[in-house]
Amino acid sequence: MSEMKTTILQARNLIKAFGGVQAIDLQDVSLQFEQGKVTAVLGGNGAGKTTLFNILNGVLLPDCGEVTFSQIDITHTPIWKRCRLGISRLWQEVRLFPELNCVENIQVAIRGQKSENAWWALTHRQLVNKEEQISRSQAIAILESIGLKDVMTHLASEISYGQQKLLAIARVMCNQDIKVALLDEPMAGLDKHMISKVTDLICTMRDKGIAVVVIEHDLHSIREIVDHAIFLEQGRCFATGTMEDILKSSEIKRRYIGLQ
Ligand SMILES: Nc1ncnc2c1ncn2[C@@H]1O[C@H](COP(=O)(O)OP(=O)(O)O)[C@@H](O)[C@H]1O
Ligand SMILES: [Mg+2]
Repeated sequence: MSEMKTTILQARNLIKAFGGVQAIDLQDVSLQFEQGKVTAVLGGNGAGKTTLFNILNGVLLPDCGEVTFSQIDITHTPIWKRCRLGISRLWQEVRLFPELNCVENIQVAIRGQKSENAWWALTHRQLVNKEEQISRSQAIAILESIGLKDVMTHLASEISYGQQKLLAIARVMCNQDIKVALLDEPMAGLDKHMISKVTDLICTMRDKGIAVVVIEHDLHSIREIVDHAIFLEQGRCFATGTMEDILKSSEIKRRYIGLQ
């Protein structure tokens, strides 16, 4: 009963091959992602982590298996519909509008504005201006909350890599329907200060009841906030459990370079 309440996203028996490479091989495995919890997807390079995200958010169709959202089968649901359902994603490579400034990058991500309808926008010029002012104020408030107000008029291409990552995560959080956040290596390449900012954003999402799924290499930077971890190796589920279970496993220590 409690599982029905908290599991928002589930994947069962997933298989995905690229030519001869078995990128995901999760026959007889059920992955569950819970509301208000942080799940880590761990594993070395090529383990299948990004491919799993691609299947969860609809970039890829699995060869076998199914993905359900609130117990509804979404295996064949296109990416934009999954986004509307509330599955939001941070891509491994930073994806921003480099030629727009930080405020504009956030404004573009704030959905549900009437002016998204071109006909409405053409016929309600004054209201469009009003809506633009409101979304601008919202965007500035968001930038302030993540410590980027000072650079709000800078182009996204001009701010530091760490600031770009924060901006990209803030864009994920702008999905007003967000129920699942898939974050592909949100902390990669960041210094300690930025890592702690990203950690705070993850905790904010978790505390709002969002199911946060994080791919991360640096296990120590996320160990404090992870409720459940899934360790992949060559597409297979090598281990699951708490971060303590994962960190204790001598087999994982041996196989997973960088884990001390
Ligand atoms: N679009 C693709 N075409 C061919 N092979 C791919 C594709 N995407 C991923 N792969 C392969 O699948 C495996 C898993 O890749 P990936 O999911 O990106 O791993 P990870 O994110 O854990 O580093 C790798 O062997 C990779 O080369
Ligand atoms: Mg990857």
